[in-house]
Amino acid sequence: MRFFAYAGVVALGWLGAATGLGGDVPLASLDLKQMTAGWSVTKANAGINGTPLRIAGHTYNQGVGTHAASRLRVQVYGKAQKFTAQVGIDESAGKNGSAEFIVQGDGVVLWRSGLLKGGDPAKAVSVDLAGVKFLTLLVEDGGDGSSHDHADWADAVITMNDGVIAPVAVAPYEVVPVQTKSFALNFQVGDDGRLYQTQVGTPAKSATPPRPEEAYPQAGDGYIWEPALQVVHADGNTSTTLKYQGVMRASTGAQERVSIQLRDAAYPLDVILNFRLHAERDVIEQWVEIRNHENGEITLERMASAALLFAPQNLYLTHFSGDWAAEMQPTTERLTPGTKILDSKIGVRAHQFGNPSFVLSLDGPPLENSGRVLAGSLAWSGSFQCAFDHQGGQVRALCGVNPFASAYHLKPGEIFTTPTMIWAWSTNGLGNMSRHLHAWARENGLRDGHEPRAVLLNNWEATGFDFDFKRIVGLYDPAKAIGTELFLLDDGWFGNKYPRVDDRAGLGDWAPNRQRLPDGLAPLATEAIQRGMRFGIWIEPEMVNPKSELFEQHPDWVIRQPKRELELQRTQLTLDLTRPEVQAFEWDLIKNILSVPGITYAKWDCNRYLTQPGSPYLAANRQSHLWIDYMRALYALMEKTAKEFPKTELMLCSGGGGRVDYGALKYFHEFWPSDNTDPVVRVPMQWDYSYFFPPLAIASHVTHWGNRPLHFACTVAMSARFGMDLDLVKLSSEDRAICAGAIQAYKQIREVTQQGNLYRLERPHDAVRGALNFVSQDRARAVVFAFQLKDGVALPVKPQGLDPNRQYTVRELNRAPGRAAIPLEGKKRSGAELMREGVVPSCAKALTACVVELAP
Ligand code: GLA
Repeated sequence: MRFFAYAGVVALGWLGAATGLGGDVPLASLDLKQMTAGWSVTKANAGINGTPLRIAGHTYNQGVGTHAASRLRVQVYGKAQKFTAQVGIDESAGKNGSAEFIVQGDGVVLWRSGLLKGGDPAKAVSVDLAGVKFLTLLVEDGGDGSSHDHADWADAVITMNDGVIAPVAVAPYEVVPVQTKSFALNFQVGDDGRLYQTQVGTPAKSATPPRPEEAYPQAGDGYIWEPALQVVHADGNTSTTLKYQGVMRASTGAQERVSIQLRDAAYPLDVILNFRLHAERDVIEQWVEIRNHENGEITLERMASAALLFAPQNLYLTHFSGDWAAEMQPTTERLTPGTKILDSKIGVRAHQFGNPSFVLSLDGPPLENSGRVLAGSLAWSGSFQCAFDHQGGQVRALCGVNPFASAYHLKPGEIFTTPTMIWAWSTNGLGNMSRHLHAWARENGLRDGHEPRAVLLNNWEATGFDFDFKRIVGLYDPAKAIGTELFLLDDGWFGNKYPRVDDRAGLGDWAPNRQRLPDGLAPLATEAIQRGMRFGIWIEPEMVNPKSELFEQHPDWVIRQPKRELELQRTQLTLDLTRPEVQAFEWDLIKNILSVPGITYAKWDCNRYLTQPGSPYLAANRQSHLWIDYMRALYALMEKTAKEFPKTELMLCSGGGGRVDYGALKYFHEFWPSDNTDPVVRVPMQWDYSYFFPPLAIASHVTHWGNRPLHFACTVAMSARFGMDLDLVKLSSEDRAICAGAIQAYKQIREVTQQGNLYRLERPHDAVRGALNFVSQDRARAVVFAFQLKDGVALPVKPQGLDPNRQYTVRELNRAPGRAAIPLEGKKRSGAELMREGVVPSCAKALTACVVELAP
C-alpha cells in the first residue's frame, strides 16, 4: 500500500522535475527495465524479492532493489549535481550475500562501497556529478559468486541542477553503432571502459564481452592475439590500454562521419577510430589516427587501419594472388584456426603478387546473388598486410600498412593517420556488393567517375621502342578512320646521351629524343588534335636507369643499401622519394611534360619494386620510415598532379597490375590491370577485378596477345574501358572494319557500360562461356555480353536487373562477319520475359563473342 502511495509521489516528483519545480529525482522513478540484475527483476521501492527495502533493521520507503551483478546507466547530460543513497545487502538475504556498490561517471569510478555483507549497516553515498554525462550504478558480487546478493540502492536520488532536464535510464552498455542501410558495426563499451566490437552480422550483447572481442586491440596489457596497435611509449613501456572517451558524429550530404575517441589510461596517447559512412551504398571507409601527446618520442610497431571481428562459422575468404601477366587469380578458402596473412613487403609496385582487396563471406563460399558478403579493399599502394586471425571463437581481420620493418616514430605532438580501409556490404551476394562499390567508386574513389571515357589507341604493342615522329603520325590517319578519340604514346620517346631505345637506358632523362622527335612532343600532339584526336603520353617518374645522365649526376638519389651491390630490375632503380630534391625533380618532370600544349592524358608507370630498402637520405634511426614516407611523398606528388592538371586524364600502371588500389586511384581515372591482354585471360581477370573496381576504370585494350580472332578480342575489350594497342597500318581491311565496327558500337553503349550497373551472369573460370550485362541507372537500356571460351551450343543468356515491365528492342551490335542474326534480332520483349527466357547469342564456337543491346 505504502509502495503505491509512494509511487504517486514519485510521479509528482517526476513531473516536478520535468516542469522545473524541483531537482530531486528518485532513482525508482526511472525506467528500471534498463537495469540489469543477476537474478529476478529489479524492483522500484522494494527489495529484489518484493518485500520492503530493509538494511540492517532499517526500512526505506524509497529506492531500488536489485541483485548482483547489476548495472544501470543514466544519462544526466552534465546537468546533475549529485547522486545520494544508502546502500547495503537487503535483509531478505539474512546473513548471506556480499557485494560491492560502485558509482561511475562517464566510465570513471567516482565511489566504491567496499565489500558489504548481509547484516552490515547501510553505507551512505553522496557523489558529486558536476559535468557528468552518464552516471553508471554497478553492483558486483564481492568476489564470491552472486548467490544471495540482494542489493539495495535505498533512498537513492539524483539531484539535477534544475527541473528542466530529467535524467533518463538508457541501455546498460553504451553501444556505438556505425551503421549504413543494411550493415552495422556495433561497438560497445565494457565495464572496464574498453571498447568492444560485436562480431559482424551478430546483434550487440547485453553483457561486457570477453577481452578477445576488444575493438582495435592493443599489445602488452592482457590481449594475447594479433594486436591492431603496438606502441612503445616514450618511457619504454610496451603496453597500451585504450579506454573509451566518447563519440562524435557529423553529417555532410549523403555521408556521415563517426569518430570514436579512445585514450590510454596512463599515457597521453589518443587513438581515434574514424568511419565515413555511405549509407545508401552500404560502404564504410575506416581509418585510424594516433596522436602522441607524450613528452617524448613514441614508436608505432603496428598500426592497423581496421581490425574487425567476425563469427568463425562458415566464414570464407576470397583473395587474389598473381604475378606479372597473371594478375588477380582468385582463391576461395574457409578460414581455419591460425593466422592467414596476405601481404606485400616490396614497398613500391607493391601489388605485383597479390592485391590488397578481398571478400569475406559469412554464409559459406560466396555467391553472386545471395549470402552475406563484405568486400575489403585497402587504399594503400605500399607494403600492406591483411591478417585473418582465427582464434577459435572469432576471426579478426586486421588490415593496414605492413608492420614488417616499418616501425614508425612519432615526435611529441605528431599524428599518424593510417591508410583507409574500404568495406562494402551486401546481404545478397557479390553482385550487389560490387554494384555498391562501383557506385561509391564513381562518386568517391576515382577522378571524374561520371565523365565518359574516350576510345584510346596505344602504340606499345604496335611499335614497342621502335618508332619516330613519322611512324607515330603514320598511325594517326588509320586511327582516326576507325573512330579513335585519343592517342597514347608509350615508352621510348626520351633520352639523348643515353637514348631510350630499349629498357636498359635513358630512364630519368626526360627530354624528348632529338633524333626521333626533333621538335619534341608538341608537334605530335598538334598532329593528333588536327585530326580531332586527343594526345597522351607515357611517364615513369619514380625510376632511373643506371645508364642515364640523372644517375651519373645523382648516384645517391636512389634507394639502395650501403655496402651492397646494386640490384637492378628491368635494368632500373627506384628514386628515393623521401629526399626533397627527388620530390622536386619528379614534380618538375611531370609538370614539364604535362604542360606540353595538347597533352591531356598520361599513363603513369612503375616497373620495379624494392629489394634493397635503404635510403641514403633518411637518418640511421629513420630507415624504417622509408616504406611509409615513400608512399606519402608519392601520394603528395599524385595529388599535386591531379590538382595542377585537373583536365588531364591519368592511367595508373605498374608493369600491368602491380599497383591497383583505391589509395592511388583517387588521383587517377583508370588502371592498367595487366600487360596480358590475351582476351581468353582477360575474361576471367576483368571479372575478378570487377568485384572491387568499376569496369570504366579497368583499361582493356585489343592486342594480338594470344593471337585470338580480332572480333572476340574487341568484344572482350568493349566490356571494360575500351582501347586498342594495334599496328593499324599492318591490319587487313577486314580486321580494320571489325575494329571500326567495335568502336562504333562501343560509342553507342559506353554510357551504359561506364555508368550503368554490372550484373555478372555466368562465371567464365574453367567454363565454356562467360556472360555479363550492364543496365543503365534508369533501367531503360542494357547491354549483354557473351564470351564463348570453348566450343558449345548457343544457350540463352539471361540478363538481370532489367525493368520487368519495360519493353526493350533487342539488337546485336557489331555482329561478326558471316554470322547469322540472333533469333530475337529487332524484336521487342518485356524485361520480365528477357530475364526469364534470355537472349540466344550469335556465338557458339570457341573464341567467338557477342554483344547485344536492349534499348527502347
Ligand atoms: C610496362 C607497361 C607496358 C608498357 C611498358 C613500357 O611494362 O605495363 O604497358 O608501358 O611498361 O616500357
